[in-house]
Parts: sequence; C-alpha cells; structure tokens
Amino acid sequence: MTPEVIRTSSFVADAVKLIAAEAQAAITARGLFRLSLCGGNTPRPVYAALSEAPILWSKVLITFGDERCVPPDDAQSNYRMAREALLDPALVPASNVLRMRGELDPEEAAREYEQRLAEVASEFGEPRFAHDLLLLGMGDDGHTASLFPGTPALEETRRNVVANFVPKLNAHRITFTLPLINAARRVCFLVNDPKKEPIITEVLRGDTEYPAERVAPAPGTLTWLLGDGK
Ligand code: 6PG
Repeated sequence: MTPEVIRTSSFVADAVKLIAAEAQAAITARGLFRLSLCGGNTPRPVYAALSEAPILWSKVLITFGDERCVPPDDAQSNYRMAREALLDPALVPASNVLRMRGELDPEEAAREYEQRLAEVASEFGEPRFAHDLLLLGMGDDGHTASLFPGTPALEETRRNVVANFVPKLNAHRITFTLPLINAARRVCFLVNDPKKEPIITEVLRGDTEYPAERVAPAPGTLTWLLGDGK
C-alpha cells in the first residue's frame, strides 16, 4: 500500500476540497456519500469550513470512527464537537447522522452501532459496511481512532466496532476496528501538527508497530493530508 502524501500550507481548504470532491463522486455514483468523521482537535476547523461547502447533506450519511464514553453534550464528546462545527451549521438532517451512544455501556454501544452499520451494509449488498471516505487523526503515540498501541481492539479481525479499554487514559472508548477501516473506498489521515512528523515518517516507512501503520484500505486508497500547523 503506497499512500498518497499531500503536504499543504492550506490544510483546511485542501481538506474541504478533498471531502467535497469525494462527496460529489459518491453521490453521483451511488446516490449516497458515506463519510466517517474523526475526533480530536485537528478536524474542528475543517468541519467548520465544510459546513459552508455546497454539499447535498441530505445525501450524506455521517458515521463516527470512535467516541469517548461520555454523554453527547459532554465537552469530551466527538459527536458534540462535530455537531457544533458541522452538523448544526450545515443543517445535516438528524436521520443522516449515526451517533455512537457514548452514554451507554461501552459494549452495548458498540454492538448497537455494529447493528446500525450492518443494516445499511445489507441495503448495499456489502459483507461489511464500506465508507466512501473515512477520516482519521493520529495521536502522538501513533494511535488512530481509538486503536491505541497495545490495546485489544487493535487485534480484532472479525468485528467492525468494539469497546476498547485504554490503560493510558484509564477509560473505555468505542472504536472502529481495522477490518472496518480497511473496508473503506478511501481513508484520509488529517494531521496538522509538525511535531507529529517523526512518527509520520516512521509510519510511512512502514517499519513500526504504530496502529496508524496498520491502516491499509484494500482495494481502497490511502491519503495523508499533512498541514504545516497553521
Ligand atoms: C479521538 C480521535 C483520535 C484523534 C487523535 C488526534 O477521539 O481523540 O479519534 O484518534 O484523531 O488523538 O487528535 P488531535 O487531532 O487532537 O491531535
């Protein structure tokens, strides 16, 4: 898997352009754009700018690559961040948003989410839900979604969504697994922090154990959109 690496000093604008182009292509080809949002801080300005893009949101199905085990109005909630930055300003219909219910027992929330994805996958005749575009961030330990180094979710080979206890956070998370991530037509890492460059270099060289390195969508494509931190 040779990823496409795009280095940019216009990170937000280029991210919006990439997402909007994928939306147009998916809606034209299949009548629906299945987009997975990542959490953390990096994507917030991208989502805010995306809310102003000319995208047919009624034809977009939004999922979340992971979620903290908190209520949807908690400051830590990835859903809350996306709702504030994108879903509310863009008037994305609530029925188009599959929220991971972080307020539930983690395993219950994971299984509920898997079921919701399976219902859509069956409508498309897919053995596994296939996102058109799956956005990911990367932490400074090389984690992505909530697949942290040394945690059980990294080794999941069958399920699509699991609960994952993260010792370094002393907290559970709900997360996509690698099989679901790697079933996407396109995966795009959004990283806008030069301090992460050394890890990115190692991951791109392909000789590490970082979770981010195990993202290899086949037969999809993999893109790293790397900003200069501005
Ligand atoms: C989360 C994310 C996580 C995030 C990275 C990068 O829930 O926190 O899914 O994987 O993308 O930790 O976070 P920053 O963008 O804040 O650096």
